[in-house]
Amino acid sequence: MELLKIENLTKTIKKKKILDSISLTVNSGEIVGFLGPNGAGKTTTIKMVMGLFHITDGYINVCGHDVTKDFESAMKNVGGIVENPDLYKRLTGRENLEYFASMHDGINSENIDSIVELVKMSGRIDDKVKTYSLGMCQRIGIAQALLHNPKLLVLDEPTNGLDPIGIKELRDMLKYLSKEADVGVFISSHLLSEMELMCDRIYIIDNGVIIGEKDIHQEDESVEDITYQYTFVTDNNTKLMAYFNALQYSSVIENGGVNVVLSRNEIPNIVAQLVQDDMKIYAVNQKHRTLEQDFLSMTSGTKTQIR
Ligand SMILES: Nc1ncnc2c1ncn2[C@@H]1O[C@H](COP(=O)(O)OP(=O)(O)OP(=O)(O)O)[C@@H](O)[C@H]1O
Ligand SMILES: [Mg+2]
Repeated sequence: MELLKIENLTKTIKKKKILDSISLTVNSGEIVGFLGPNGAGKTTTIKMVMGLFHITDGYINVCGHDVTKDFESAMKNVGGIVENPDLYKRLTGRENLEYFASMHDGINSENIDSIVELVKMSGRIDDKVKTYSLGMCQRIGIAQALLHNPKLLVLDEPTNGLDPIGIKELRDMLKYLSKEADVGVFISSHLLSEMELMCDRIYIIDNGVIIGEKDIHQEDESVEDITYQYTFVTDNNTKLMAYFNALQYSSVIENGGVNVVLSRNEIPNIVAQLVQDDMKIYAVNQKHRTLEQDFLSMTSGTKTQIR
């Protein structure tokens, strides 16, 4: 079932086009990533989905309700955090949740307890928010977004400030919500690696335009041809650099290794050759594909700039 449908959404602020006719969908049971660098337009889009920002053109539909025309019905189905969760620091986590619960019908203390359990905050829920770490505030923010049992969860960079364990727990929690409770999740981030682990599909936004869509479960046919930066650590990096130079690959020595850009399928032959030449190879590390590299392959080499 389609929970979120954004069609030709455009946002202009002071004659500047912040979003230019973007379209996307989120289905129930699906985690959809919204990936883009600083200033791409992620928060702007999310604010419009949450009804916090006026739409210049196009439309947003949540669970069959037009966000502009049918605001209240649409909002009943959405929970979210934009930028950072807005919490009362002098109140405890529980008091914050009780306060938000009071703004909706039919949320009792058992509902609150089970959500607190879900976000793993039971141990600290009766402490004041001012004593919480950033990650704990994020958890309370997510609990708050889930209180009214929304079908669609919208999260703007929720991993900001989380440590790796916190990120994994968030990932597990979102997967649980999407797969077990059929919630649709729309989540923004500027980290491709994080999105790849968490999402079913990813939209890539840059300069207010959606420049690509990736289905994570679909094998990339041309994966063998994608180039990565590799770092070779050997007992003779100068010799290795000369070897790459002879092959007309540019390489640099950095932090005790040789960095070179290659496609994956070139590695086995190169390694075999180096071994034959009696070179000791201690490591061949593949640098994780960066958002920029992904952009480069999608925008055929034009470097993206923050406006
Ligand atoms: N109220 C505003 N007035 C003018 N420009 C704005 C306003 N809000 C956002 N912008 C501009 O819109 C563009 C997109 O901003 P937005 O906050 O949506 O980006 P983002 O993708 O969330 O970036 P980040 O990763 O840094 O959070 C930026 O160029 C920003 O300067
Ligand atoms: Mg933002």
